[in-house]
Amino acid sequence: MRFSPGCWAYLECGGMLLKLGVLTSGGDAPGMNAAIRAVVRRGIFLGHEVFGISHGYDGLLKHRAWPLHLGSVADIIHRGGTILRTARSREFMTPAGQSQAVEALRSMDIAHLVVIGGDGSLRGARQLGRAGLAVAGVPATIDNDIAGTELSIGFDTAVNTVVEAIDRVRDTATSHERVFVIETMGRDSGFLALSAGLAGGAESILIPEVPWDLDAICERLIRGHRRGKVHSIILVAEGAARGFDVAAWVEQLTGFETRVTVLGHLQRGGSPTATDRILGSRLGAAAVDALHDGGGGLVLGLRADSVVGLDIDAVLEDRRPVDRRLYELASVLAI
Ligand code: F6P
Repeated sequence: MRFSPGCWAYLECGGMLLKLGVLTSGGDAPGMNAAIRAVVRRGIFLGHEVFGISHGYDGLLKHRAWPLHLGSVADIIHRGGTILRTARSREFMTPAGQSQAVEALRSMDIAHLVVIGGDGSLRGARQLGRAGLAVAGVPATIDNDIAGTELSIGFDTAVNTVVEAIDRVRDTATSHERVFVIETMGRDSGFLALSAGLAGGAESILIPEVPWDLDAICERLIRGHRRGKVHSIILVAEGAARGFDVAAWVEQLTGFETRVTVLGHLQRGGSPTATDRILGSRLGAAAVDALHDGGGGLVLGLRADSVVGLDIDAVLEDRRPVDRRLYELASVLAI
């Protein structure tokens, strides 16, 4: 035993030392580092060995793994991104790639794996689970679209980043008396645009889950203008429309001077909020606990402020629906 607090745990778990792998995959999300830190420290605390696999499933295919120690994850809890690096692996999406990944894990003697990432990453984890590995998924995506959990790592930070951007844009929109279209991320999901739009007081919010009507949006702008409203913010999730298209249509239909801000990848970066650090810490540690207890084929999630283990098939069956009540509220408050 290298680390004494693990000794009692080693005995408690029947003397079985695990060789745990951890990887981050897909789009990075602030708070991933907190989750990695928790996996490593909880794993070592329980007496296990933890191996970091770099560059997601791509790195796994290339056997890019190395042991992580307590000090390997020092000073990372406040950092955005992921120290393990990440990738979207095309090769791993093929059956041949997945068999190769299983072989890679076997050859490294890693039978227990924590996968930190979004929908695609968790689907990859499920495939590895079906091949006999004990896998625990930790939802991390600024899209917040993973079913079963009320919150995914990275979302809270991204919402706050977008709200700060809206506040800044509002200053210049007011000064110039312009309409601004702000495009957020969210290819298939409107969580980010909806939450940030509500928190930032946007006049209209366009998300992929709810059909939108350009005429109604323009009528709202014109009504507001007649009441003396001199600026407006329209928030558009990238999956609903292109910000530049919406701006061109609005300008054409209303005659109001309109500008566009595409927030892009700045929404994925930055120091994680306390909420994301705590969530990453809780879910990362719970993933290790689940594997330690002999579990697998599960995703850790948050429900009513408790960490729960969810069946991975059930999680991946559905996409998490946006809360229509928030959408209605945002519409009413932007009257
Ligand atoms: O999955 C998170 C996400 O940020 C989406 O909102 C966005 O559409 C996508 O990733 C962008 O991915 P990439 O960084 O690969 O262009």
